[in-house]
Amino acid sequence: MSNTKANSTQVQLAERSYDVTVYPGDLAALAADIANKVAGRAALVTSRRIHPLHGADFLAALKAAGVAIEAEDVIVVDDGERAKTMATVSAILDGLVARRHTRRSTVIALGGGVIGDLAGFAAAIFLRGIPYVQVPTTVVAMVDSAVGGKTGVDHPHGKNLIGAFHQPLLVTVHPEYLGTLDDHNRRGGLAEVIKYGVIRDSEFFSWLESGGVQAFLALDPAAVSRAVLRSCEIKAAIVSEDEFESEGGVRAHLNFGHTFGHGIEAVVLRHQLEGTEAGPVGRLKAWWSREQVHGQCIAVGMACAMDLAVRLKMISTAEVMRLEKLLLTTGLPTRIPPGVSPHHILDAMATDKKAVAGTLRFVLPTAIGSVEVRGDIPKETVLEVLIGRTDETRN
Ligand SMILES: NC(=O)c1ccc[n+]([C@@H]2O[C@H](COP(=O)([O-])OP(=O)(O)OC[C@H]3O[C@@H](n4cnc5c(N)ncnc54)[C@H](O)[C@@H]3O)[C@@H](O)[C@H]2O)c1
Ligand SMILES: [Zn+2]
Repeated sequence: MSNTKANSTQVQLAERSYDVTVYPGDLAALAADIANKVAGRAALVTSRRIHPLHGADFLAALKAAGVAIEAEDVIVVDDGERAKTMATVSAILDGLVARRHTRRSTVIALGGGVIGDLAGFAAAIFLRGIPYVQVPTTVVAMVDSAVGGKTGVDHPHGKNLIGAFHQPLLVTVHPEYLGTLDDHNRRGGLAEVIKYGVIRDSEFFSWLESGGVQAFLALDPAAVSRAVLRSCEIKAAIVSEDEFESEGGVRAHLNFGHTFGHGIEAVVLRHQLEGTEAGPVGRLKAWWSREQVHGQCIAVGMACAMDLAVRLKMISTAEVMRLEKLLLTTGLPTRIPPGVSPHHILDAMATDKKAVAGTLRFVLPTAIGSVEVRGDIPKETVLEVLIGRTDETRN
């Protein structure tokens, strides 16, 4: 990727190109970057959880940098998946209208993936589209959701069913925000980081294996910066090549681990909803009883995809062991939780919105660092993989 700054990478999309820049320990520089790009007034969209932690400092930094924003321009909404609804988007739009924002205004999103997706979507439809800036505060948002321009909300019938492509004006990352993020979400986000290594960069994967993950979890600024920038670089290169996820395009590579992972996630979330908590009673701290399980399910999904690649003789078992070891070092699961039926997972995989006309498509590694899309896998083989990754198959 062409970029002049060491702490920056560019998403190249002609006139909609933008930078992703990491500012370790330097909120003032981050705010100055935003001030340089924002033409008119700004509104800050953040969450009830993040606002008391970081809202005041961030607003002060923006004002000190010369951004035209007042305390009244701060729109605070709920976050977490349950808040990713049209009602929350409406609340954001109400806030923009109440403050008489115009087409020259810019929305600044301070939060995790939910706030970024909500604020980005509100910006996409307010006055038929105004610019927005992403200031991600979770690992998922820093390495994944803030980049790529997918915005939107969930529908009762499925995740992310409503939305728009709307690329941000810029993405600015302050690694220190991860200091207040809980451990479960930090580790979950690293599943996506590991994914980038598997799909595109064996050297990056080796760095993660040789202490990169531990340094990241200890929030070493250099390690966080490296992981965020390399992840964004890889995502940016893929998005630049295939912005709108065309049929057969490379954006599908980002779904490595997600065909299995989404199936596992759907069944785990269904168990939670029905109150039939998967797994042994009393293990409330188990990962599968948490509100956010995406990263953990993707970790198991990546292990399943590797198993499948081994069965198809695309890769050796030694590579599976490497991935498994790295996931375990990261504190991520590699096995399907007890009580979650492989048959139910297979059903859920077949009804996922990314399954094209009922055909399951898998992104499978040919080595650490490169992948291939395969759509010719018999369901029986998929089921065998799932059973092989399940500790208990009594269901
Ligand atoms: N647009 C995309 O391309 C894309 C890609 C991946 C994921 N997503 C979306 O992102 C969402 C998941 O994002 P997420 O994992 O960031 O979830 P999230 O935004 O719900 O954040 C997770 C939790 O962490 C809290 N939090 C956030 N930052 C914090 C901080 N610095 N300190 C303390 N607490 C903090 C939030 O309040 C929330 O409770 C999903 O809705 C998913 O669909 C979108
Ligand atoms: Zn994901």
